[in-house]
Amino acid sequence: MQAVCRHKSSWLIKSALLLVPAGRKGKAMGNTSYEEKREQLEEYFDRTAADQWAKLTSDAPVSGIRKTVRAGRDRMRQTLLDWLPHDLHGMRILDAGCGTGTLAVDLARRGAQVVAIDLSATLVELARKRLPDDLGEGKVEFISGDMLSTAYGNFDHVVAMDSMIHYEKHDMVQVLSGLAQRTRRSVLFTFAPSNPILATMIRVGRIFPRSDRAPFIEPIAEDSLRAAIGESQSLGGWKIGNTEKISSGFYTSQAMEITKR
Ligand SMILES: C[S@@+](CC[C@H](N)C(=O)[O-])C[C@H]1O[C@@H](n2cnc3c(N)ncnc32)[C@H](O)[C@@H]1O
Repeated sequence: MQAVCRHKSSWLIKSALLLVPAGRKGKAMGNTSYEEKREQLEEYFDRTAADQWAKLTSDAPVSGIRKTVRAGRDRMRQTLLDWLPHDLHGMRILDAGCGTGTLAVDLARRGAQVVAIDLSATLVELARKRLPDDLGEGKVEFISGDMLSTAYGNFDHVVAMDSMIHYEKHDMVQVLSGLAQRTRRSVLFTFAPSNPILATMIRVGRIFPRSDRAPFIEPIAEDSLRAAIGESQSLGGWKIGNTEKISSGFYTSQAMEITKR
């Protein structure tokens, strides 16, 4: 009975948190460096969950729970797209943590030159295969690597949909600073907004054995994120713009925009 309960709770937590499991090394939340987290994420998205992500981001039938996640993610993508100029001709955009590339394709359809980068070579390969050939003047270059790599030049806008939700607040602000340095206009990203239910689920998850521990998404309270961005010297020339929380069944994520002053 205990095993069943534990399994059920763990499943709930994974579902609620976009199906992301504990880190391979079983590190507790709150003390994992950017590099360690990046390694865990690569392992997870490149191997453990690559098939799940391929399915979730396709039209294939999925369970009721995943339908709510898919619907929430569709709304989130549309929200981010709505915050960018409609005509993106002549603009370079970085899709940071592009996954299977849906947002990159939408951006290219509006005329953008998109650099889409992800840690997972498997997802990037799938994104290349899915790339339609009716993009008009828009273009997508898919790359497997770290979104903070400076090898790909500067951008007008950066979008990072649900790719920074795994990093602790300090690392998230560092990542934002790294991206902002290479960006002329705006950086759009999402974070997992902290709330009591999520915090409880994660606390419960921490009592599991290391091999079955709670997911390593890092919920962040909006106020403390705003304060951290405000206090960051390297983001001194930037201000917070739009923000919107999207909740759809088992999907909850909050979009935020920083723009150059
Ligand atoms: C939850 S998925 C979202 C993918 C995509 N943005 C979407 O919304 O469909 C998070 C993605 O971020 C990628 N990611 C996380 N950290 C990254 C980093 N430092 N550099 C590049 N990609 C990263 C992961 O490999 C994963 O594919």
